[in-house]
Amino acid sequence: MSFLPAIRKRLAEHGQEHLLAFYDQLDAPQKARLLEQVAAIDFEQLSGLIRSHVLSRPQVRLPEHVLPPPIRPARPSDPASVAAYDSARRRGEELISRGKVAALVVAGGAGTRLGFDGPKGCLPVTAVKGKSLFQVFAEQLLATQRRYGAVVPWYVMTSLSNDQTTRRFFAENDFFGLDPSDVLFFAQGQMPALSFDGKVLLAEKDQLAWSPDGHGGCLPALRRSGALEDMARRGVEYISYFQVDNPLVRCVDPLFIGLHAEAGAGMSAKVLPKRQPKEKLGNFCTVDGRVTVIEYSDLPDELAFATRDDGTLVFNAGSIAIHVLSRWLVEELTAGGACRLPFHRADKEVPYIDANGDRVQPEEPNAAKLEMFIFDALPMSRESVLLQTLRGEEFSPVKNQQGEDSLVTCLRDQIARAGLWLASAGVSVPRDAQGQVAAAIEISPLLALDAEELAAKLPPGLTIKPGQEVYLE
Ligand code: UTP
Repeated sequence: MSFLPAIRKRLAEHGQEHLLAFYDQLDAPQKARLLEQVAAIDFEQLSGLIRSHVLSRPQVRLPEHVLPPPIRPARPSDPASVAAYDSARRRGEELISRGKVAALVVAGGAGTRLGFDGPKGCLPVTAVKGKSLFQVFAEQLLATQRRYGAVVPWYVMTSLSNDQTTRRFFAENDFFGLDPSDVLFFAQGQMPALSFDGKVLLAEKDQLAWSPDGHGGCLPALRRSGALEDMARRGVEYISYFQVDNPLVRCVDPLFIGLHAEAGAGMSAKVLPKRQPKEKLGNFCTVDGRVTVIEYSDLPDELAFATRDDGTLVFNAGSIAIHVLSRWLVEELTAGGACRLPFHRADKEVPYIDANGDRVQPEEPNAAKLEMFIFDALPMSRESVLLQTLRGEEFSPVKNQQGEDSLVTCLRDQIARAGLWLASAGVSVPRDAQGQVAAAIEISPLLALDAEELAAKLPPGLTIKPGQEVYLE
């Protein structure tokens, strides 16, 4: 290959010449494959990141003035706030009706903790029908489109490794009733995994060890893929962002969208009161008048445990990755194709080919992965609305195989919410001695998106017996 010497020179300049160590053993297609991947790397950027994030660690310096941020309550109490929320909800509904709102799910994560064989969105999660996460969201979006008589285009971020399987899953399931032309897939970017001495790892002799560039990678990927242009063409102004692992999420919430729009915000977030001071959620704070997330591991104990006179935590607002973003902010942050989000380092076990050409399966973290986080866009937004939500209504992610945030806890929480909605509609719900719902209840989003809608549509005379399976559609 005539350009091989140039590539070798470039690799040598950046201390990565080992990537071609097995080049001479490869056949022609393998050689082409390897060179293509090497050519895809922005070595100037990567070498800078290796210096700042791998050979040393970025200093996390806590800003001087960290304050608790203003938070809007989940349920307003005084008449003025009730009226303000009603007006914001109407604004949100109007924006949805006018086609100004899109949904965005980030589904490119590797899901290593769960260990499910396939994209996490294909995981069956519901209590009776075993619907997949993707189906739960699709039905919510279908119900939203029917309710407001408008299209809510759905942008689905995949990774290069799960893109094909994800698309096939949607096609095999007829897009769960959605119009395929309103479901748009785009793959996020990837970064090479790096040994702790700053070398790009080889996954195979002809293959670099790539990993997705974090959920924040959705911003540059929206731009690169043309999705942002597609939004502009459709007249979309607001993006309702959620993660693939939380089936309780309200994919498109008129109140949240309305509050965000009325505030002229660039990016907003839903907030949960933390269960305990060190709960593993990012902490919303205000720094220099802008909302910022400080990771739980970076929040010093004196702030994490600080309490007010009434005993409540000063920094009590946990981040659950439910956002509204204005399209203008995404345009601004990715102008010219670059992305203004910083990278973070996570140390993981990454299998690799060693200098002898042998495959190594590490037992301990051996590599740094570099990822962008979506919440880093918050301080870049001039205004942000933080809206409190209720854990039982909107947050129960599936992250782990067992224990907390597993399929078991998520099922329990889905059934508990269904029980609450039914009880508030006047249905008697059987409970066990611990007060848990003693039946498997599933409410289709196509029947009801919230408790009020359920109450209005419930079949008369519904009774539920202990141990019964109940599917309401
Ligand atoms: P997590 O932080 O839970 O990561 O992602 P993960 O990769 O899914 O799971 P683990 O850590 O390997 O077990 C939170 C959300 O962000 C998405 C995930 O798909 C999930 O919806 N995500 C994460 C991406 O879309 N891309 C990424 O690069 C990382």
